[in-house]
Amino acid sequence: MQTLLVTGGAGFIGSNFVRYVLEQHTDTTVVVYDKLTYAGRMENLVDVAENFAGRYHFMQGDICDAPAVNAALDQFGIDTIVNFAAETHVDRSILDPDAFMRTDVYGTYVLLEAAQKHGGLRYHQVSTDEVYGHIHGDHRSLETDCMAPRSPYAASKAGGDHLVNAYHITYGLPITISRGANNIGPYQYPEKVVPLFVTNALNDMHLPVYGDGGQQRDYQYVQDHCAGIDMVLRRGVIGESYNVGTGKEMTNLRMVEILLDELGKPASLIRHVEDRAGHDRRYCMNVDKLLALGWEPEYTHEEAIRATVRWYVANPWWWEPIRSGEFKEYYQRVYGQRKTLSTPAA
Ligand code: NAD
Ligand code: DAU
Repeated sequence: MQTLLVTGGAGFIGSNFVRYVLEQHTDTTVVVYDKLTYAGRMENLVDVAENFAGRYHFMQGDICDAPAVNAALDQFGIDTIVNFAAETHVDRSILDPDAFMRTDVYGTYVLLEAAQKHGGLRYHQVSTDEVYGHIHGDHRSLETDCMAPRSPYAASKAGGDHLVNAYHITYGLPITISRGANNIGPYQYPEKVVPLFVTNALNDMHLPVYGDGGQQRDYQYVQDHCAGIDMVLRRGVIGESYNVGTGKEMTNLRMVEILLDELGKPASLIRHVEDRAGHDRRYCMNVDKLLALGWEPEYTHEEAIRATVRWYVANPWWWEPIRSGEFKEYYQRVYGQRKTLSTPAA
């Protein structure tokens, strides 16, 4: 019997993880602890509340609020913390880094302190391949590589990872870290590239490709990531980090080509626009360490992109209200004044 505190469980990956864990492990109870920022949505958990009523609980709260975190641990008899809570969008971190430092660094510290004060709870940190920075040549990042983050978001996540490792080394806290690739799938807020482009295309709006679109990412289906985190929680070695991805990469332009093909929309929707500041050209990880635990990804990049497109086509009830709210103002800030490039440069 496990009782998990899943922070950030109302967000994209967190909500998919909660669903995955409750389906896979009938002896597990999940308490979602979430501040409900613009990215955290109760709609993401509606079916979970219905299907797992006795084993699922929700508490609204900020991970930076130590008394509230401690109260949640006491009230539900938590034995394991899985921390998904974070500010997660690189473009927002370039505009307003403040919330990133508070949640991704200070919030992680608050959770670690609470885990420590409660007798050394099992702690898992959900991290990202972005902590490795831009990856040159044909190297694939290893868990032992030095962190070299380049955006405020990536730096705040690397700060979180350093703290998690420090609590293990200094206090013996039983921690693990997983570093995920670019996740796509159901319930991803449409600021991220794949849901942004699908929903733009469905509205016959342009797809704003940053720069030449030759950047490389590992587009991983969210369920494969959730299965990887679950594997690390159950079989991971305490004190270790694990990369979670397909181990392959794809250019953004190829991703767009597949997305438009699945939608039956024309390539004329593509607009090359001014690049993101400090844009990392390539991420790619070596995932052998997680494969050795017995985990295997099920989706290729292409299957993941097509499955994601189909979900957004089938679920306008979820994304249409989002696109008409806070999102509109955000879109204007990021894309309103952005220059279109006639000859995209690498
Ligand atoms: P998301 O933005 O969809 O959701 C983040 C969730 O955290 C939301 O529910 C939000 O309300 C909550 N939250 C934010 N600040 C909080 C606070 N102070 N206290 C409590 N809750 C708070 O994010 P996501 O894409 O699901 O990412 C989840 C985690 O996975 C993050 O830690 C992220 O760094 C990591 N990650 C994401 C990806 C990806 O491709 N999206 C890849 C690798 C790792
Ligand atoms: O790699 C893991 C990371 O993936 C996670 O840690 C982050 O939380 C998550 O946001 C994601 O970061 P990226 O910056 O890679 O994802 P995003 O969807 O914002 O962009 C993916 C690629 O698409 C990137 O090369 C930038 C490009 N892009 C993005 C947007 C929003 C565009 O060309 N146009 C866009 O409008």
